[in-house]
Amino acid sequence: MADRSCLAIVLAAGEGTRMRSQRPKALHEIAGRSLIAHVLEAVRSAGVTSTAIVVGPGAEAVTAEARRVLPGAEIFVQSERRGTAHAVLAAKSAIARGPDDVLIVYGDTPLIRPQTLGRMREALAKGAALVVLGFRAQDPTGYGRLVQEGGELASIREELEASAPERAIGLCNGGLMAFAGKTALAILERIGNDNRKGEFYLTDAVAIARARKLKAVVIETEEDDVRGINTKAQLAETEAVLQQRLRKAAMEAGVTLVAPETVFLSADTRFGRDVVIEPFVVLGPGVTIEDNAVIRSFSHLDQAHVGKGALVGPYARLRPGTRLGEDVHIGNFVEIKEAVIEDGAKANHLAYIGDARLGAGSNFGAGAIVCNYDGVAKHRTDIGKAAFIGSNAALVAPVRIGDGAYVATGSVVTQDVPPDALAIARSRQVVKENRAARLRAVKAAGTKKTPAAE
Ligand code: UD1
Ligand code: CA
Repeated sequence: MADRSCLAIVLAAGEGTRMRSQRPKALHEIAGRSLIAHVLEAVRSAGVTSTAIVVGPGAEAVTAEARRVLPGAEIFVQSERRGTAHAVLAAKSAIARGPDDVLIVYGDTPLIRPQTLGRMREALAKGAALVVLGFRAQDPTGYGRLVQEGGELASIREELEASAPERAIGLCNGGLMAFAGKTALAILERIGNDNRKGEFYLTDAVAIARARKLKAVVIETEEDDVRGINTKAQLAETEAVLQQRLRKAAMEAGVTLVAPETVFLSADTRFGRDVVIEPFVVLGPGVTIEDNAVIRSFSHLDQAHVGKGALVGPYARLRPGTRLGEDVHIGNFVEIKEAVIEDGAKANHLAYIGDARLGAGSNFGAGAIVCNYDGVAKHRTDIGKAAFIGSNAALVAPVRIGDGAYVATGSVVTQDVPPDALAIARSRQVVKENRAARLRAVKAAGTKKTPAAE
């Protein structure tokens, strides 16, 4: 395909009314990535030479997301939502530049694989003027049906327009199409809107091509490739399919998933070798887990890096900006955000470390926290190497704890602690001999009067 130029047109101007959401459909997410980003990634991997994205008026958020993923893409605005063919023609000037291949991809079909796009382009290279991607739907409701005559694709009928026998056809339109560049505009500009919705249906291209004696062919693919998302239920079904793909790929790459069906991955999750993920772990976007690390049950990671041999969880929460070095131990009910935990450091129980560094080999005790937020601004805490932060200490940021320093249990640290120093910042213990016994005696005597405080 390398010798053929290819324009991909991604349609994302639909309102997505069936999602019942304030959010544009293209920005709903599966596996931690927007629908439009999934589609653009597939288009990019398919080796297209240029990409046009058609968005609706006022779709600044969609445009911004498209630019983030594919900065080189051209954005076209379809000012009125008048159907899929009308949307394609919003990018008419790009088609008019005369690419060899024109791929039409729907922004709500996120599981499309680059190799499927490649197969469609191969059919163009073999002489088809129009290639339709078909599939056998388990439930064809809502999809256009592929009508064949004498073994050839004759037309596509939208469900709304279809007769009962046409509705019984199991072969459906996946939505993706490929046009030979040289005849694309001639076909597209002849599409009318004489139908029940009064919309310009891209699917009418098939009958038009046929009437002009141009070759229109179907390429079949599996349903999972072309799942269209129109509703929240379809969003969840598609998420489930993608999660299965991601789990399978992770295991094929050598990751041990003890109970794969309970682990949620993101499209960009990266694993080293011999990583073990225990049941019920959620990996949000931007997570990297290096060799031999173990993520124990019920942990939630988001934009976090886990170094070699680290042990995380159970019940750990690694928030954005977490970087764990080698052999770090993060235990139960520990939350980390925007912090570097250097090699061999440990925070094993009930702790919060945010906007901080915990130096190599340091120990952060049970119940200890950094107080990084004063209600107005966030401040940093810097803890050196081989330091010891006693249990239930509160480190009030901004504050620095030197290498080898020791913070006593229960301290509220508001000043820097020099290297190798011991800081004790808590009130002294007072012991009142026999006081407990006297309290009990008073209670037993039945009087409401308790001994005055001494
Ligand atoms: C479409 C196909 C149907 C196919 C199904 C596969 C048509 C007429 N129908 O139906 O045959 O089985 O996809 O999922 O093409 N869009 C615009 N502007 C518009 C209208 C739509 O940009 O004016 C975009 C939408 O954002 C969406 C895509 O085009 O990404 C498809 O539109 P949608 O309304 O979801 O079409 P379906 O009814 O699903
Ligand atoms: Ca759709």
